[in-house]
Parts: sequence; C-alpha cells; structure tokens
Amino acid sequence: MASGGSLFGTGPNGVFRRTVPRPETESERRMVRVLGLPQLTMIGVGAIIGAGIFSLAGAVARDIAGPAVLVSFLIAGAASLCAAFAYAEFAGMVPRAGSSYTYAAAVLGEVVGWIIGWDLLLEYTAIVATVSIGMSGYVGYLLEVVGVDLPLWMQGAPGTGEGHRVDLIAMLICLGVAWLLNRGTRTSARVDVVLTAVKIAVVLLVVVVGLSRVDFGNLEPFAPFGWGGAVTGAATVFFAVFGYDALSTAAEESVDARRLLPKAMVLSLAISMVLYVLACVVLTGMVHYTQVDPDSGFSSAFSSVGLQGVAVVIAVGAVLGIVTVSFSFMMGASRLWYALSRDGLMPKWFGELHPVRRVPHRATWILGVVSAVLAGLLPVEEAAELTNIGVLFAFVLVCAAVVVLRYRRPDLPRGFRCPGMPVVPVLGVLFSAWLMSFLSGETWLRLGMWLVLGLVVYALYGYRNTRRVMPGGSVDLSELPGRR
Ligand code: ALA
Repeated sequence: MASGGSLFGTGPNGVFRRTVPRPETESERRMVRVLGLPQLTMIGVGAIIGAGIFSLAGAVARDIAGPAVLVSFLIAGAASLCAAFAYAEFAGMVPRAGSSYTYAAAVLGEVVGWIIGWDLLLEYTAIVATVSIGMSGYVGYLLEVVGVDLPLWMQGAPGTGEGHRVDLIAMLICLGVAWLLNRGTRTSARVDVVLTAVKIAVVLLVVVVGLSRVDFGNLEPFAPFGWGGAVTGAATVFFAVFGYDALSTAAEESVDARRLLPKAMVLSLAISMVLYVLACVVLTGMVHYTQVDPDSGFSSAFSSVGLQGVAVVIAVGAVLGIVTVSFSFMMGASRLWYALSRDGLMPKWFGELHPVRRVPHRATWILGVVSAVLAGLLPVEEAAELTNIGVLFAFVLVCAAVVVLRYRRPDLPRGFRCPGMPVVPVLGVLFSAWLMSFLSGETWLRLGMWLVLGLVVYALYGYRNTRRVMPGGSVDLSELPGRR
C-alpha cells in the first residue's frame, strides 16, 4: 500500500482514486449500438411518465394540494431539470454504461461511485417493484370490468386486504419485463418505443378530450391547502419527474451517446412536463379536487362525465404506460450491474453478456426475480419508500460533481454544457436535499443499512478485485483528453 499512497487518498491504492473505464477496443465484447435520438428520447419519456401522473397526481390533488398540484409538478420539475442539466453534461463527457455511478467514480472517487451504484441498484429494483404493484391494481380493475374475479389470495401482498397472500400479477409483470429485456436490446427497444407511443397517445387523448370538458369553476379555490400544500405535494410528485437518469445507463447502446444523450435527457423531461401540466388542468378541472379518485384519477374523472369508453381506454393506456417505466428501470439496473461487474466491483459472472443477444442476461434475471419477490410481498407504500431517497441522494452527488469538475477541469471537451453554472447545479443540490428532508427516519435508516452492507462488500471484494481488473486500465481525469 505504501507505493500507492494512503488508503484514503486519490493514489492508485486510495479508495478515492478516480476511475474512468478505459476506452473500448474493437476486440472487446460490447453491446450493440442501435439507439438513436428518437429511441433515446422515447426511452426517456417511457421512464419518466408513469405511476407518478397516473396515480400520484390524483392523490396529491385530493389530499395535499388541490388544483395547485399543477404547481407541485412545476416545483418538482424545476428541481429535476437542474439535475437533468447536470446529468446531461456528464452524459456528454463520460458516455459509458453505469449512469451516475460512472460519473461519480470519475470525479469524486471510486468509493463514492461504488456507493452510488450500490444505492441505485436498490432504488431501481424498488421502482420496478413499485410501479408493477401500481399496474397490477389497474389490471385488476380492468379484469373486474370484463367480469373476471381473481381469487383473493393472489390479489395483493399480505396485509393489504382480507385473504391477500401475494400480488401475483405484479410478480408476473416483473418477470415478463425481465424476459423481454433478455430478448435483446433491439427487440426490447422496439417494444418500448411502441408502448411509449401508446402512452403518449393516451395522455394526449386525456388532454384533448379532457380540456373541452373542463369547468374552470372547479379550479376555485386554486390552492385550498395554501401554497404550503403545493410545496409539500412537490415532495410526493417528485416520483413523476425522474427517469432520464435511467436513460444514461443505456449510453453504450447509443449510436452517438456524447451528442445524443444530453439532448434526449432534456427533451424527454420537457415533453413530460408539458403533458403533466396539461393533464393536471384536466384532472382538477373536470372534477372538483374533493371528488378526485386517488387510485385511478383520470379514468374516474372521465367516467364521471359520462365518457365510460374513454375511461377504459385510459385505464388500458395507464397499464401499458406504466410497463415502460418498469422496462426502463430494469434495463437501467441491469446495465448498471453490467458496469459494476465490468469494472471489477462485482464478480464478472453477473455482468457477462449473452453470447448471441449481447445483453447482461444473468443480472437481468436476478433483478427480475428480486423485484418480483418485492412486488409480490410488499405493500406499495413500503416499496415506494425505498425509491425517492436513493434517487435524490444520487441527484445531490451528481449536481455537486458537475460543479467540482467544471472548476477542476474546465478544459475537458463537453458534448453539452450545463447552463447557469454554478447556480443551476447548486439549486439542484439544495432542491434535492430539501426534498430528502421530507422523508421518514425509517427510510433514512433503511438507506443507511443498505449502504453499510455496500461498504462491507467493497471492503471484502470490490476494493481488491477492481485493482486487478483496472490496475492502470482506469484512467485518471488528468489523462482524459483536454483542449489545451
Ligand atoms: N417517473 C416514473 C413514474 O412516474 C418513476 O412512474
């Protein structure tokens, strides 16, 4: 250890050594590059629009913010946009699979990168479970409409209702998404694009048909719980405005990640925000906020004005729409796992690509099974609690890292430059930390325990093994090409 400097330093043996995966050589096995800007933007929108608008908007409108839920979305969107710009700058600079893990390892050091990667593995898996449970509720509703009654034991996790043992539909959704992802990136991206298009069409249907049925009287009072309600609501609807971060994990499957990823991130968030704002006006304009259904808000709103057919179409669209969120996050988690294995922080076996389909098939199946177990056995609130804290934690670090790097290496070529430096990323840090302060002590404790486990894995395995895999293969920032 003496030759590499201190254990807590940035030298080759220090846990804060900065690692950027070495450039690929042609002979290396790698993923197939098939994703262009439209596909990347669609994957982004597919990951952003989901349970947040279809389920949470209604609940927040009714109980927390009233029609000012629109303002909640704008606040959460502003916080997320600050982080999106920071992500975009990194994506344009270090376009490698692994998302914020790769960015943090390059700027803040290996151990920080590992902690983020480990954190996001949990978050992404929990998101897949959460949205699958949400989707299972809509599927149950539709089955009821066509007269199919599922046995009680398979209708939900223990404790969620009389006779409930397991949420079988949610489990099957998780396993189905894993199966689809393992068909290969080209096949799964095509299905994702189709489903995301259906989802956008359904949201547009909501907006176009719904706007003509808006009674502006329903928007009074606009902020019945005060502006504080709108602010508190932002912490909840934050769930609706992330997703582009999962997109960055697909960097190695993009045709020109450095140029296209930043555009796709900002574009997908912008498209989603426009749709959210219009959808919120429809939701709280069609029915008075006190009458909004927190479970299937949009379907119930349309049904209440006599548009039963449209209500069913929306329910089907919500199911298909939410599946793309599962798809994006499971893909994100498997690509993250691939990156961690490739860099030696986890055993190589997990990240090996399928010989024909070129996807990390083992990681994907493990994630499918683990998310299925969570989805089958946890109430939706508990699964959801595991998500927001980790995403916000990653946002704080990525926003901080982009500022650090801009001052440390202003010369590095950047495919995209975060505007309003340093105000925008600093606002991203403050917004995210502030939203984290709304989360419960239990959530903080769970995150703490998971991170401690991660440090144990790093100490016993990752630290040594990554030095075998990337002894000099890891490039210090000083070796990245600059303009000077
Ligand atoms: N943003 C995603 C959703 O709303 C996670 O479901």
